[in-house]
Amino acid sequence: MDIATTPITPDGNPELADAAPTPHEPPVIRREDYQPFPWLVPTTQLDFRLGLEATTVTATLQVERNPAAAASRELCLNGDSLTAQSVTVDGAPAEWRMDGPDLIVTLPGEAHSVTIVTRIDPSANTQLMGLYASNGMLCTQCESEGFRRITFFPDRPDVLSTYAVRMEGDANLFPILLCNGNRTNAGENGDGTHWAEWHDPWPKPSYLFALVAGDLVANSKPFVTVSGREVECNVWVRAEDLTRTDHALESLHRSMKWDEDVFGREYDLDLYNIVAVSDFNMGAMENKGLNVFNTKYVLADPDTATDADFDAVEGVIAHEYFHNWSGNRITCRDWFQLSLKEGFTVLRDQLFSQDMRGEAVKRIEDVRILRAAQFPEDSGPLAHPIRPDSYREISNFYTATVYNKGAEVIRMMRSMVGVERFRAGTDLYFDRHDGEAATCEDFIKAIEDGAGIDLAQFRRWYSQAGTPRVTVSQAVEGDTLKLTLKQTVPVTPGQPDKLPMPIPLRVAVHSRGQGALGEEQLIVLTDEEQSFSLPLTGPDPVVSINRGFTAPVVIERALQREDLVFLAAHDDDPFARSEALQELAVSHLVGTASGSLAAGEQAAGEAAIIGAFRSSLADNALDDAMRGELMVLPSETYLFEVMATGDRKADPGAIHTAREGLKAAIGTALADELNALHARASAVTLDDPAGRGARKVKTIALGLIAAADPARAAHLAAAQYDAADNMTDRQGALMVLCGLDGPEREAKLADFYARYRDNALVVDKWFTLQALSLHPDVIAHVRQLAEHPDFTMKNPNRVRSLHMAFAGNPKGFHKADGEGYRMVADVILALDPINPQTAARFVPALGRWRRIEPGRAALMKGELERIMAAGNLSRDTFEQVSRSLE
Ligand code: PHE
Ligand code: ZN
Repeated sequence: MDIATTPITPDGNPELADAAPTPHEPPVIRREDYQPFPWLVPTTQLDFRLGLEATTVTATLQVERNPAAAASRELCLNGDSLTAQSVTVDGAPAEWRMDGPDLIVTLPGEAHSVTIVTRIDPSANTQLMGLYASNGMLCTQCESEGFRRITFFPDRPDVLSTYAVRMEGDANLFPILLCNGNRTNAGENGDGTHWAEWHDPWPKPSYLFALVAGDLVANSKPFVTVSGREVECNVWVRAEDLTRTDHALESLHRSMKWDEDVFGREYDLDLYNIVAVSDFNMGAMENKGLNVFNTKYVLADPDTATDADFDAVEGVIAHEYFHNWSGNRITCRDWFQLSLKEGFTVLRDQLFSQDMRGEAVKRIEDVRILRAAQFPEDSGPLAHPIRPDSYREISNFYTATVYNKGAEVIRMMRSMVGVERFRAGTDLYFDRHDGEAATCEDFIKAIEDGAGIDLAQFRRWYSQAGTPRVTVSQAVEGDTLKLTLKQTVPVTPGQPDKLPMPIPLRVAVHSRGQGALGEEQLIVLTDEEQSFSLPLTGPDPVVSINRGFTAPVVIERALQREDLVFLAAHDDDPFARSEALQELAVSHLVGTASGSLAAGEQAAGEAAIIGAFRSSLADNALDDAMRGELMVLPSETYLFEVMATGDRKADPGAIHTAREGLKAAIGTALADELNALHARASAVTLDDPAGRGARKVKTIALGLIAAADPARAAHLAAAQYDAADNMTDRQGALMVLCGLDGPEREAKLADFYARYRDNALVVDKWFTLQALSLHPDVIAHVRQLAEHPDFTMKNPNRVRSLHMAFAGNPKGFHKADGEGYRMVADVILALDPINPQTAARFVPALGRWRRIEPGRAALMKGELERIMAAGNLSRDTFEQVSRSLE
């Protein structure tokens, strides 16, 4: 790739080129520039002398010319902040030089052994990429480009190598030494140090390398695979956390079984290790045979974790396990293909969780996440297709688009061909590309061939960004309903012209007049505009569309209020029921916020929503888990999205007021029902699905009561807190209290802190509850908490628990005078030199300024400009801020 070469003036005068230096801008990497690496690295031997402050790494690479690539005498090994202590080729001093951060060795022949020694300081590694120290232990994070911070290496996912590793270190500090694959040998040196050797038989890219050394204990339980092989499964934690590991271990076993049953995938090593670390940039990492996890997604017991935390642990354990096939056995050719492993693996973990806990509720939750996190990405300055075309820093592309929309795109393929043919497609994919570094195109082709479907036009979902809008109109023609659908794919940065995409929609035509439900069928909108004839079931036809959310699109239609109320109460697709209620609330809230409701509409809309809530509260056929979903109002972020259409801008203040107003109206009108629900649910203590459902509706009811009658809610919340024998109830009560004023708030916050001050994950909750609260002084609270002795910018969980939570608090963040924006910009500037990856994740919140009303927009933009002017930004933050200002 030639992107790093110096620009030369037209006449080639280097002095002129020097005279006009370009500002420090990280280069753009492009998908179309992909070239295979000139060398193969069949085996890699790594030798680690471990120390917290100094670790010496000796790497020996067997290299040979890659017959499939253009020949080169130079072997370019990536480095990042590394200095080579020595470089030898076939045992003799080598000819080498540095090219910026990279090391280039000149190789005379066809095959060589290259040995490089580097020395690193894990304790100084605050980026948490490469080898770093966390809580006295050593661990690694290599995806995407962290391995080059450990040793010089072709750090790209298409270079697969078989690793043999020797690690040696102080036996007291590091009694446990773990690496990928199987342990082949171990011993004591007699001087207080010990060593272990590991061998991973499966060739892998460097980003899947991992090593852990520390004082850990394991919860272990073997899993017997479908072919009868016994796999030792361990969850490694610090001794004091051991009692909170059963759920993770059980989740791993359930994942292993499910992947055999549903995708025909069997595990391929005799050992599966999971290690929990408390300093981690992301959720978890799928390193071959040695997953490294954020403690947040491992540790759970009822006293310290909520029901939602239990679900998150199960989901992330499954996700990382499923990567063993979708990601590790078949990996990515380059980072533009990230969705190949992430989109597919998210789909797999979503389907798993649907099977574990109920399809409808899980689907509703996943769609809520998509709308709150991915839709804003797709409509903002950082919009990118699920397979991006360019980047400056790949860490910025671990997005809801690549992950969640990527999963939706594959889910559409599955919906179009059905479960069995989809399985034939994935079987072919796993079979055809096993052991390879593949592309999204390879995946699509395998589904085409294996499932027997033409995906030519469907490929546009991989190349076009933006959430399509589908406008719906209908007309009765004889005994059929003519449904006319029109699609537009919005303009996104760098993509002014869009082509129509295939949009699969499950639809049914019900009859409100007869109360009859129509049969479901799948239609696929392929043209810009297209009509479909559907059978009528009776008078007053009501179309139920995008049932189960078959396509990640926005449906635009003017449905009568009675029709939505009918769907909310009677649709046989539970997802469509919750959608109808959402649609009712969205149009009412956006109408209220933009002051566009005609006289009488305000009251009528409110009455309809209250009526729908009343029906869900009274409907005995619903379980509480589903009832709870029906009681969740659309998020403010999603309401911004809908309000900001066409020339209209989102007004966060007006949306917040409208939404709180609706909560209060519901809380007032349904006071008796909500109080009764809260009391009924409080009496249920079962630890089974019924108990979980009860806990869910209990706190939702409390939140609605709080909007209407704060004094009563404070009293109920304090009682719920005191009676709680689990974190779900305790955190729910405290959440409601945090938004209220009064002695109960302070008392329970103090009690919570005193009770859990030694548990970092629960202290994170304590920070989050206050940062997310509806309290009018939330900004002052966050400022104080940033000075709390337990706060540190060095721990990503803590930063997220306070500052990221605040950036997601619509009321505080969008405070009209811009104080919230200023605070977040200050966080970005302070965090960037410590942990650029995490700092850059705060930028999108400010980057949405173009869709916000002018007063706030100017303030948000001003903060972005202030960050840009500070200079010396990391690649991560530079890319996000500059794109947000373009
Ligand atoms: N690959 C990890 C996952 O999705 C996420 C991750 C990316 C973790 C980069 C760390 C660094 O499971
Ligand atoms: Zn993943």
